[in-house]
Amino acid sequence: MTENKINVILIGDDQQLLEKQQAILSGVGDCNCRLFCNKTIIDAISKQTQDEHAIVIINLTANGSQELQFLNDLDGKKAAIIIIADHDNVGLLSLAIRAGVKDFIDAKTYEAQLNKVFCNVKKSITQQYKSNNTKRLNAIINAKGGSGASFIGSNVAYILSKEAQLKVALLDLDVQFGSIGLNFDKVPKYTLTEALAVIDDLDALSLEAYMVKYSDSLSLLMPSPTDILLPGEVNVAHLKKMLDLLKTQYSQIVVDLPRLIDPVSSMVMEQADQITLVLQQSLAQFRDGRRLIQILNKDLDIPLEKIAIVVNRYDPKNSLRIEDLKSIVHHEQVYTISNDYERVASASNLGVPLYESSPRSKIAHELKELARNLGKLEFETTKKKQFKVFSWF
Ligand SMILES: Nc1ncnc2c1ncn2[C@@H]1O[C@H](COP(=O)(O)OP(=O)(O)OP(=O)(O)O)[C@@H](O)[C@H]1O
Ligand SMILES: [Mg+2]
Repeated sequence: MTENKINVILIGDDQQLLEKQQAILSGVGDCNCRLFCNKTIIDAISKQTQDEHAIVIINLTANGSQELQFLNDLDGKKAAIIIIADHDNVGLLSLAIRAGVKDFIDAKTYEAQLNKVFCNVKKSITQQYKSNNTKRLNAIINAKGGSGASFIGSNVAYILSKEAQLKVALLDLDVQFGSIGLNFDKVPKYTLTEALAVIDDLDALSLEAYMVKYSDSLSLLMPSPTDILLPGEVNVAHLKKMLDLLKTQYSQIVVDLPRLIDPVSSMVMEQADQITLVLQQSLAQFRDGRRLIQILNKDLDIPLEKIAIVVNRYDPKNSLRIEDLKSIVHHEQVYTISNDYERVASASNLGVPLYESSPRSKIAHELKELARNLGKLEFETTKKKQFKVFSWF
């Protein structure tokens, strides 16, 4: 599945039929499609089902039972397999189930079913692939209060959950002035503090009871909006255990950190795959950014490649340029997010992420690009499919 593309292999003994099926699937994006047509299809079944990033669609021939038996006995098959054959033949159906195929389409009605069945299988293997290959913890911290770290963290988490269709957990570790609840208009029933107090008795599933679901794929873990904790009251070992549990259930974890270097934030940053410093376009903030990078790199031993900078509320007309920032902080990984008071305030008033209320705005596009980079993901696109035709008739 390089570049997020799935190999689609159509196998059968009728070239015209395969071409018709190829035409049906031509609207589905992100696929490389190939046809294998021969009187006997055993060889193609054997070779093409070894690719774990492929969907193999097999049109059984008159020797369907033998072909399915062969498929059942075949070692090391990794592709997702769809069978097209006579649905009324119960023998074929049960053999197909035993052979572990993903779906069985009736040959008489394939035109109506093929596209939908294919898209479902594609979605499930894409999700499987992504969740196996992308487990990431992103920590977001500001270089000065009010720079927009919580705004950025909320939107990045939301975009990852929406665009990559992965399970995402967003943790608000600002136990004194956390604002994630306001950004999503949610109040926690049970809090982060309560979960930490009983963490030794929790498993990954029971921990979910302490989280607030914003959507099927995005869950929030927040401190109490009323009972404020003092610095030092969060137990580092308990929090580490919580992160470990979350990692087993969530593909992406986003942590909104307070502007504080203490044992809690140091542990989270050491655990993180990426740390994003959010700052605004002023000399004072650029200097604070430099100072924070030095602390992370020299004192906490965090490699520079793991650190990214976001210049929030960026204004291209400001005389302080991104090149100035790069030379002040001695760091190259810099993203910009535009200043958009109206849209950000409106999202905030609605209690939804900006990416939900203004998905087509410039700032939404910038946030999506940032999320794609921080999540190390390719989002679904509507790129045109590339077809190649092979035939050995
Ligand atoms: N790109 C932007 N354009 C316009 N307004 C913004 C932008 N980013 C953030 N804001 C606004 O700036 C304010 C501060 O944002 P936010 O609370 O996310 O900052 P923070 O760095 O988390 O602050 P704190 O130090 O309180 O944790 C909020 O009112 C937010 O809506
Ligand atoms: Mg904040």
